[in-house]
Amino acid sequence: MTKRVAILISGGGSNMVALADSMTGDHPARACLVLSNVEGAGGLAKAEALGIPTACVPHAPFAGDRAAFEAALHAQLMKAQPDILCLAGFMRVLTEGFVARWEGRMLNIHPSLLPKYKGLNTHQRALDAGDAEHGCSVHMVTPALDDGPILGQARVAVAPCDTAETLAAKVLVQEHRLYPAVLRRFAEGQAGRIDL
Ligand code: GRF
Repeated sequence: MTKRVAILISGGGSNMVALADSMTGDHPARACLVLSNVEGAGGLAKAEALGIPTACVPHAPFAGDRAAFEAALHAQLMKAQPDILCLAGFMRVLTEGFVARWEGRMLNIHPSLLPKYKGLNTHQRALDAGDAEHGCSVHMVTPALDDGPILGQARVAVAPCDTAETLAAKVLVQEHRLYPAVLRRFAEGQAGRIDL
């Protein structure tokens, strides 16, 4: 039975496009919804162009009432009945209550080699630390931020001339390889992490 995947975004959605493009042929999953917390997010137009149903629940009107915002998110998700959630550039911290409903079925991609550099500004932090390598991680989402079991990682070499911008661009290329590979293995119910 084909697994239904909802992809949550906040911005350009390049990871969403990579995931959506990968779910073809004998892939056991298909995108059933692209859901954004930002009206006019570039990824919404990309999803529409791909023929994927979209929805938007702007977080701003909820003025910090996370539970109310998440209830609205949940209502959109229930309409789509996903089996798996993929956070892909989704920039809202989710409460323990929301995570609990989806734990074990919700993935996220983070632009660092976790457990290093949880949170924001990961590329600059890797440069400031003088790291020789950097990369991205796909992990199961748990209540603790960027902290769940790692399902896959991809590495890039840090060059002396790298800036946060050039490093982010190198890592993003690897994100687009890693996330689809991890999602396929997860949708197939296979265990074991992927390292690229
Ligand atoms: C990516 O660097 C991703 O790691 C982070 O959000 C950034 C933008 O992602 N979570 P996308 O282009 O919106 O998929």
